[in-house]
Amino acid sequence: MTVTIVGSQLGDEGKGGVVDLYGDPADVVVRYQGGDNAGHTVVEDGTEYKLSLVPSGAVRGKVGVLGNGCVVNPATLFEEMDGLRDRGLEPDVRVAERAHVILPYHRVLDGIEEEVKSETDSAVGTTGRGIGPTYEDKAGRRGVRVGDLLDEDVLRERIEYVVPQKRALIEDVYGVDVDDLEDPDAFDVDAVYETALEYGERLAAEDMTVDAGNFLAEKRAAGENVMLEGAQGTVIDIDHGNYPYVTSSNPTAGGAATGSGLAPTVIGQGEVVGIVKAYLTRVGRGPLPTELAGVEGQTPGYDGHAGDDEEELATYIRDEGGEYGTVTGRPRRVGWLDLPMLRHSTRVNGFTGLAVNHVDVLAGLDEVKVGDSYTLDGEEIETLPSTTERWAECEANLRTFDGWPEVDWDDVDEYEDLPENARAYLEYVSDELETDIYAVGVGPDRDQTVVLESPYDD
Ligand code: IMP
Repeated sequence: MTVTIVGSQLGDEGKGGVVDLYGDPADVVVRYQGGDNAGHTVVEDGTEYKLSLVPSGAVRGKVGVLGNGCVVNPATLFEEMDGLRDRGLEPDVRVAERAHVILPYHRVLDGIEEEVKSETDSAVGTTGRGIGPTYEDKAGRRGVRVGDLLDEDVLRERIEYVVPQKRALIEDVYGVDVDDLEDPDAFDVDAVYETALEYGERLAAEDMTVDAGNFLAEKRAAGENVMLEGAQGTVIDIDHGNYPYVTSSNPTAGGAATGSGLAPTVIGQGEVVGIVKAYLTRVGRGPLPTELAGVEGQTPGYDGHAGDDEEELATYIRDEGGEYGTVTGRPRRVGWLDLPMLRHSTRVNGFTGLAVNHVDVLAGLDEVKVGDSYTLDGEEIETLPSTTERWAECEANLRTFDGWPEVDWDDVDEYEDLPENARAYLEYVSDELETDIYAVGVGPDRDQTVVLESPYDD
């Protein structure tokens, strides 16, 4: 059977840890979208592995697959695999031949477009990894796929078509002189071709490329368990998120089918577990109605002053939760849990269960708040408006819960061991979303998760 793990909020919900925990009975772990914009941290025996592209399951000896819905920067892939090898692991990673390749010009274009947008204060705050420009080329039918890297004639043809266009774009539209760039080779046909060819040679030498859909179908036919690991989160989904402050792919459960080659019926017959952080964080711009204080340069309209109490609380949660970008190191914006967001997410993804993480981070606060609904134009609404501008007008109606004490989380093995007020909080979330809680995270380590349901056991 399949288990699909999906971020229910804005990314950084701690999906890696849940994949790692629930992935035990899985033989194959598949990423179905995104690229090296997805920071995930896996802690194993006190050792921390920070990955951005390699599926977290690879740390635990699973076959990791980057599905056709991913955009793959082979330079990052090789770097991460080499890093894992240096630490004694033997990652087995396969890459879909239908996945698109992030080439050097994509990163440069990502940076230039953000810079141009920042002149009108409309930068998205991307991770700068070239994700958007690569998906743009995929949709524009001018992309380079992993399979193309294996055929030098096809590769040459693709690159000869696309690179001069990119050069013209940055020179004629953006007015940038290629020779002034840090990496002028990013827009040179021969240099890009050589780089891409080398990528292909190594992928072929390590026998890493597959027809992902067939590969996964064969694994399933052989009785193996497949886990699908979403990157980012529902509210930065290109269709269901807060456009334009989104990533360029579909982290939502539907993406698990299109991005892996497994049918929607296969995904739908399995479990879809929504990962919820017990509060909210956001990297980059866009609305956040339950935000506490703010982060300069990311929170629209924030001038560095939100009042001492709010600043203190936001800083406390940020530091306790280690809320700094895995990929970029940026401080994350922090807010209370947002139920309208979670209702939206539950509908879009059809969660069969929830894993609520970081419950320990909120311990010790006198009270914990939740955005229970919004007020928009004087009316109470329970879910997200479909435009980001309307969402920005929403005011969160906060509900207050009694806080729970700091306890020795290593002693929390069963649900009943959780502090009573933490359980009341979790039960409220479960009731509101009409979805069972499958797991509760009380610390970063793999055994610091209280498991109520193991999806592969069903
Ligand atoms: P991109 O994916 O680099 O194009 O960035 C687009 C938006 O998605 C930005 O607001 C990023 O901060 C956000 N984003 C991308 N990846 C992640 C992630 O792994 N966690 C949280 N936010 C992300």
